[in-house]
Amino acid sequence: MDLLENIKKSAIRHSKRIVLPESLEERTLKAADILLKENIAKIILTGDPAKIQEEAKKHGLSEISRAEIVNPPDHPNKEKYIDMMVEIRKKKGLTREEAEKLIENPLYLATLMIKAGDADGEVAGAMNSTGDVLRPAFQYVKTMPGISVVSGAFIMILKDKEFGEEGLMIFADCAVHPDPTERELAEIAVATARTTKAIAGFEPKVAMLSFSTKGSAKHEMVDKVVNATNIAREMEPELKIDGELQADAAIVEKIGQSKAPDSKIAGNANVLVFPNLESGNIAYKLVQRLAHAEAVGPVLQGMAAPINDLSRGCSVSDIVNLVAITANQAASR
Ligand code: ACO
Repeated sequence: MDLLENIKKSAIRHSKRIVLPESLEERTLKAADILLKENIAKIILTGDPAKIQEEAKKHGLSEISRAEIVNPPDHPNKEKYIDMMVEIRKKKGLTREEAEKLIENPLYLATLMIKAGDADGEVAGAMNSTGDVLRPAFQYVKTMPGISVVSGAFIMILKDKEFGEEGLMIFADCAVHPDPTERELAEIAVATARTTKAIAGFEPKVAMLSFSTKGSAKHEMVDKVVNATNIAREMEPELKIDGELQADAAIVEKIGQSKAPDSKIAGNANVLVFPNLESGNIAYKLVQRLAHAEAVGPVLQGMAAPINDLSRGCSVSDIVNLVAITANQAASR
């Protein structure tokens, strides 16, 4: 059975409540219908129930009648959510009037439902930008203890089974944080190792990538990766991690042995942590296109509850897969 099938089977067992706040968006509604049919998650849609049912009827989506539909203007917990918003953002000067307006936005309602324990996770982004999906999550759900930064990992499914874990590799950060400090880079490594265990289901061997291997080049950018590796080791002493390594030394056994003979990671890394978003985003797209790899994600990590952002060019099956991943993240908390 392939990885995505395993992820879906596991989601079915956990039966988590996932909010889809872009409920009238056609691909989202079609994905919701499949998710309900296959019992991958309990689906919560936001919006006017009559409009959602009308849209479902138009597309012949019979399962939508099993979704929980919450309408922002008359949500029973609306006042409670407004109180929470004012309390959480009082230092930022959020007024009650502003909170009353924001809660009408389904992206804010979804994050407040998660914060209050009324939902387990959220998937959005088929029609909203990354910033619009993430801002309410950053402000109200915030990061998990010990992690100050949210980042995005991709599960790379390679045709060549020689690399990583029989062709599976995890790349991060490829989606969120443009220029991490060394502490933030260490947190990204730790969070990516956790994502690897929770979602891909194998033991992470983390390579902290650079343009230098074990001192072959001297530069402050290299020092950042070396220091981040040391901080990650302090954060999680059991973590199998090494750096700084060049990409070839990280993944090709012969090169790893020759460039970093004392490293247990060099040559057989299955998790690649990039020094910044530029390198991570470019690398995953090149591997996806040139090596015809499947890139599943971004799986957002480091958030106190799972909230995942779709690409606006996503397909119905991308949404189904990301909801299954989100349900597994929720189960691993
Ligand atoms: N982790 C945790 N919190 C964060 C993060 C983060 N990575 N980034 C920002 N925040 C918090 C801030 O601390 C701030 O909190 P506060 O209001 O309580 O003080 C809040 O979020 C808003 O911060 P801003 O700096 O105003 O964040 P903004 O909304 O402008 O930007 C964003 C956040 C959109 C994620 C930005 O970092 C960004 O554009 N990143 C790149 C995204 C991107 O384009 N990725 C590549 C494409 S995706 C793809 O190819 C798959």
